[in-house]
Amino acid sequence: MAATSGNLQIRRCLPEDCADIFALDRTLWGNWSYGSPFTRQLTDMGHPVFVARDVSGALAGYCIGLTQADCVTGYILDVTTHPHYRRQGAAAGLVSAVVEDFRNRNMKAVNAAIDGKNEASKRLFAGLGFWEAKQMKNYYETGDLHCLFRLEL
Ligand SMILES: CC(C)(COP(=O)(O)OP(=O)(O)OC[C@H]1O[C@@H](n2cnc3c(N)ncnc32)[C@H](O)[C@@H]1OP(=O)(O)O)[C@@H](O)C(=O)NCCC(=O)NCCS
Repeated sequence: MAATSGNLQIRRCLPEDCADIFALDRTLWGNWSYGSPFTRQLTDMGHPVFVARDVSGALAGYCIGLTQADCVTGYILDVTTHPHYRRQGAAAGLVSAVVEDFRNRNMKAVNAAIDGKNEASKRLFAGLGFWEAKQMKNYYETGDLHCLFRLEL
């Protein structure tokens, strides 16, 4: 099912979206980006992966959700908006689509680990009702701080 956010269409990821996702991911994250087959595999497995595209078809952003090992908690692995499309509601629409998918799967909560310095992302999740459940030091690298944001469904 597709939704709109401003001039953007938000819908489930299709196999043909994966190359564009990888290109955007690589532009932003370089060596930290997920490999090209990764999104395709997640999509193929039925995980909630959503894309936002504008009227011309250009990729504005994507959001990847996974299910945690307890099978009742969703996890937002990544949400990214192309710099050209920021502050147009793309990320809010994408995260909301993934959250709705988790709700429809009768999940109980959704988590997201956010870099403590990433004010844009913290505000995004807080604005969608997530709360800061805990802080996690040395999460990816020594010296970094991540915040676990959580939404009860
Ligand atoms: C964080 C990011 C995903 C936000 O994407 P976006 O599409 O611009 O976000 P939205 O337009 O949906 O914004 C929703 C809300 O998030 C907050 N927000 C988004 N960008 C912000 C910024 N630069 N500064 C402060 N708040 C911001 C605001 O509360 C905003 O609501 P508002 O526009 O009504 O004030 C985007 O900046 C991005 O891709 N950053 C790089 C990747 C990243 O950090 N991903 C998050 C990893 S957890």
